[in-house]
Amino acid sequence: MISQRSRVEVGPREAHHYDLFMDIISLGFYSLLVKSVVAKMEIQPGQTVLDLGSGTGRNDCLIAQKLGDTGRVLGLDISGEMLSLSRKRCQPYPNISFREERIEAPTSYQEEFDKVFISFVFHGFEDYQKINIISNAYQALKVGGTFYIFDYSEFDIQKLWFPLRWAFIHGECQLALEFLNLDLKEMLSGQRFTRLDEELLLKGHLRLLKATK
Ligand SMILES: C[S@@+](CC[C@H](N)C(=O)[O-])C[C@H]1O[C@@H](n2cnc3c(N)ncnc32)[C@H](O)[C@@H]1O
Repeated sequence: MISQRSRVEVGPREAHHYDLFMDIISLGFYSLLVKSVVAKMEIQPGQTVLDLGSGTGRNDCLIAQKLGDTGRVLGLDISGEMLSLSRKRCQPYPNISFREERIEAPTSYQEEFDKVFISFVFHGFEDYQKINIISNAYQALKVGGTFYIFDYSEFDIQKLWFPLRWAFIHGECQLALEFLNLDLKEMLSGQRFTRLDEELLLKGHLRLLKATK
């Protein structure tokens, strides 16, 4: 079960308003940000991509556009509402599918994917669950495949502009606060990932971390 200290599992109402909420808090910037992150993932036509905690499917549609007819995206989520929203949204793309699966539970995927992506989900897990997710990503990737984590970077919350600090502390979960101090690169290399590379976004408050199997 997910920790009480997390808010990464969303209820049906939150699911319906998730994209709008993200657009409002980012002043309409979130779509552009996600587009630029997907562009940085160097997705090639024909590749296979696994999206952990796929949400409303917004990212999966962008990924599918890069894959062409022969590529494939599989999104995993545990929210029935999110899954039905994403299936509806991604209907025009026959190369996207979704499954109801817990991403921290043992996985059956074995060296099937060129890329594994996790966007704004990872921070909401206890460290032992994060390790399960990393190890699942490693198992699911082909040799030479890449794992992309898009999430908060390590930053000093005390240096955040007061209204933003207040919003973070009151709007985010305890695990997200702790995540700001986590040495994620060390955690990834402890699970055999190599060639760790990060790109900082939004003045260093977010990052896209790339790790290779
Ligand atoms: C904050 S949303 C992010 C959605 C999407 N990745 C994005 O960037 O827009 C978190 C998503 O993770 C899903 N989720 C939470 N816990 C999960 C778990 N244990 N296994 C699979 N999905 C989970 C939620 O249902 C939700 O759709």
